Amino acid sequence: MIPFYDFYKFVEGTVFYLLLGQAMKGTYLRMRIESMTQGHSIRAADIVASIQKEILNNPSAQGCRLPPIRVLAHQLGLSKNTVHAAYEELISRDLVISKKRQGFFVQTPDPYPPPKRSFQAGQASFRQLFPPLPYFESEDLIHLGNVFVDPQLLPTQQLTECCHSVLNQPGLFNRYDTQGYPTLRQKIAQQLRQRGIPAHEDHIVVTSGSPQSLGIVCLALQNRHIALETPIYPVRKRFLELNSYQVTGLPIDPFCGIDLDLWENAIATEKPNLLYLVSSYHQLTGYSYTTQEMERILELSQKYNFGILEDDWGSDLLSFSEYRAPLRTLGGENVIYMNSFTKKLLPSFRIGYLLGNEENIEVLKAAKHALSLGNSSLIETVLFEFLDRGYYESHLKQLHLNLDKRYQNCLMQLRKRMPKEVKWTTPGGGTTLWLEIPKEIQLSQLKNNLLERQVKIADPIEKSVGSSSLHGFLLGYAYLPEEKLNQALRILGEEINKFLKGSANK
Ligand SMILES: Cc1ncc(COP(=O)(O)O)c(C=O)c1O
Repeated sequence: MIPFYDFYKFVEGTVFYLLLGQAMKGTYLRMRIESMTQGHSIRAADIVASIQKEILNNPSAQGCRLPPIRVLAHQLGLSKNTVHAAYEELISRDLVISKKRQGFFVQTPDPYPPPKRSFQAGQASFRQLFPPLPYFESEDLIHLGNVFVDPQLLPTQQLTECCHSVLNQPGLFNRYDTQGYPTLRQKIAQQLRQRGIPAHEDHIVVTSGSPQSLGIVCLALQNRHIALETPIYPVRKRFLELNSYQVTGLPIDPFCGIDLDLWENAIATEKPNLLYLVSSYHQLTGYSYTTQEMERILELSQKYNFGILEDDWGSDLLSFSEYRAPLRTLGGENVIYMNSFTKKLLPSFRIGYLLGNEENIEVLKAAKHALSLGNSSLIETVLFEFLDRGYYESHLKQLHLNLDKRYQNCLMQLRKRMPKEVKWTTPGGGTTLWLEIPKEIQLSQLKNNLLERQVKIADPIEKSVGSSSLHGFLLGYAYLPEEKLNQALRILGEEINKFLKGSANK
């Protein structure tokens, strides 16, 4: 604040009416300058109060110019210092701005004005985290590590219909249901039973997809120590590390199966509380467990007293998945089961679920409540509509046909383009497989060479917990149109061959 009392000059009369017309650089503000004290001279405080009143009462004042200091001083018979002091005060009140060589203007209101502050808050210190992967990538780059399904194959039209239908229903819910919209849970339970998985709607918690499902289970655990397969879907690894969980990596090799003695040693020594695993169609490697492996894992679970969280995200992407019984069916209700609709319906439509049992459902619900209170009833109702109309089943049938075609084409191209030293998994459909390349080829070097030719491969480095004998990367065939995939595989084959020839010539 400036001390106004320093600036006043006696002027006869108390009211001045300034009429300033259109000028070259904008409209001048027309205003009355009054003395607040009858019969007294005008002071800087009077100028401030009068102009402020004019600005606040008159929306059309925004952006207008104020008379130049010398003009106003002349008209009021005051010193230029007095008028200047008044204008400075109007600036500090955010009512007026000064533009270099143009003069003073009434401020145009900012809808979100920064609060005036005399103190600056301190900064929290944050960890260094990997940013999430960019959602959009250059059109010129062919990304062989894309795990998504081509949007052309997704049921956007039917989802739109369901959204419209839900929005046309009278009234929206005014409460969320922590456990999830009850009719949706009934529908999910019914579909699981049709697939041979015993399920009751009361044991289901609807989630916003797999990270929330895992988050709920982890939050409910007493002991923060989790075992998981390695290599691993990187989102899982980051989630556990960020939350300071102790993590035990259990290696899987899709070409030789699982060394369960090695698993048993690790489990016996490290004593995890929970095993998170992807029993069918492991996302990175495409591996699906055999019945024998699943039975041994169930035995280990009893012997070493750990729980199991089965992530069955992939079965719905594979044709004939009805022939692969999940661990939940073999091992019973203590196996917590999770699944997700997002990749099969629309990546932006984030919804999945957990299936617990009579004993753990209350703690799972409590953890969900603590994490998010509840999710969007709107999305839950749209999904219910989609399932209820039978759209999901017909969509999956069509999706399987299309994905199988892409899968077969990918295998054919690999047979044609890859040297004999390269091998790959055959998950039986879906969206991705694992390509294993000779160890003498440096993956980072291969990656750089491919980038120069506009082909990108998934970064293999951060995907494992502990050591993994695998040396390769995930290859996605569900997103790219056939000709793009073929082009990228041709280039990949050429670059791998270059490396092998180079090392043969050494
Ligand atoms: C192992 C695994 N679980 C779950 C999902 C589904 O994830 P979300 O529900 O987060 O889309 C995926 C998708 O790629 C996955 O690879």
